[in-house]
Amino acid sequence: MKDLFDRIYDNKGPVGKWAEHAEGYFVFPKLEGPISNRMYFMGKEVITWSVNDYLGLANHPEVRKVDAEAAAEFGSAYPMGARMMSGHTNLHEQLERELAEFVLKESAYLLNFGYQGILSTIDTLVCKDDVIVYDVDAHACIVDGVRLHHGKRFTYQHNDVESLEKNLQRAQRVTEQTGGGILVISEGVFGMRGEQGKLKEIVALKSKYNFRFLVDDAHGFGTLGKNGEGAGVEQGIQDDIDVYFATFAKSMASTGAFIAADKEIIDYLRYNMRSQMFAKSLQMQIVKGALKRLDMLRNQPEFKDKLWKNVNALQDGLKASGFDIGKTRSCVTPVYLKGSIPEAMALVKDLRENHGIFCSIVVYPVIPKGMILLRLIPTASHTLEDVKETLEAFASIREKLESGIYKRISESITASVK
Ligand SMILES: Cc1ncc(COP(=O)(O)O)c(C=O)c1O
Repeated sequence: MKDLFDRIYDNKGPVGKWAEHAEGYFVFPKLEGPISNRMYFMGKEVITWSVNDYLGLANHPEVRKVDAEAAAEFGSAYPMGARMMSGHTNLHEQLERELAEFVLKESAYLLNFGYQGILSTIDTLVCKDDVIVYDVDAHACIVDGVRLHHGKRFTYQHNDVESLEKNLQRAQRVTEQTGGGILVISEGVFGMRGEQGKLKEIVALKSKYNFRFLVDDAHGFGTLGKNGEGAGVEQGIQDDIDVYFATFAKSMASTGAFIAADKEIIDYLRYNMRSQMFAKSLQMQIVKGALKRLDMLRNQPEFKDKLWKNVNALQDGLKASGFDIGKTRSCVTPVYLKGSIPEAMALVKDLRENHGIFCSIVVYPVIPKGMILLRLIPTASHTLEDVKETLEAFASIREKLESGIYKRISESITASVK
């Protein structure tokens, strides 16, 4: 009989098989020093383009002060227990009220982590008679939430409203049999490529089909909309988003997340969502820290203004130099190049060692074979000098990629990977 672990010993997975060459450098790298535009990687200063600290709040002295004072006052445990049992406080409620008001919803509920939170939201919103229709490029947390669903689920082509409509028709045929309802899920901003979800076009379909709409706006919250309210406000359809989700792990530079919706829906989730009923409440340091961050996000537009100044400088500069940055309509800045995984490794090494630029690489299976995606996250802490140096570095690496230099360097890597 086969040992359960045989498969694991034999096949380390699509990313794991590169571990010998990648660990500590391309994956699990250690970025050191305060979170900022420039950090340290292997002892060398690098311009850091891979941290989602969009508004530059992570290391803001006022934010650090509130975090430290809250930790000193409450320690890292208080309150103990799940919200429903013994982990509930006035400050949790205050944060929920303020978040709901900010994203123009009746009510909000805090979640311990974005990932488990949205997974559990999906699980709680649907029963086996319902059908979920979701974008095929949805984040892993949405996919995993859908996996818990006992009923039918259909994907639609990425941001393709025609494909969504076809799948809504399929879903409608199923729900006519089961008597259930339909949940559509999109991201507000797709975090890998930076495209905004076609929220406006999706909600327009509500006049033809009866469905509820859940939006994961992890990357839109704090960066889009007049005051950072997110992609729904940006596209003028926030009212038609039935359940709005955002994490604190990006613009809010913290941990935790929230959902916002009509009061009756939030009340149902509060009483039925397993990830919150059976897990410890967010600790006070996070709650007080989030109140401070939200206050700055609402009342200090200079962070968002500076962010967009950097985003525009970087994206315009890359486009002007002929780089393909896809269809981004957000701060997420992808740069698409053609090349193999070993070439991508040689290229990123050159960027880090010789140009002092640290950005993330994304390769197959996340994007098609033969493509390299360099993903840059501009923030309010970057400067126009950072942008200038980065554009120069990118011009240099493209030249080397096209002339085959990275291909030659990479041949030794290819030979040794099964
Ligand atoms: C689109 C999206 N949703 C959800 C999450 C999960 O959020 P958290 O880090 O709070 O678990 C992320 C984080 O990467 C994300 O990009």
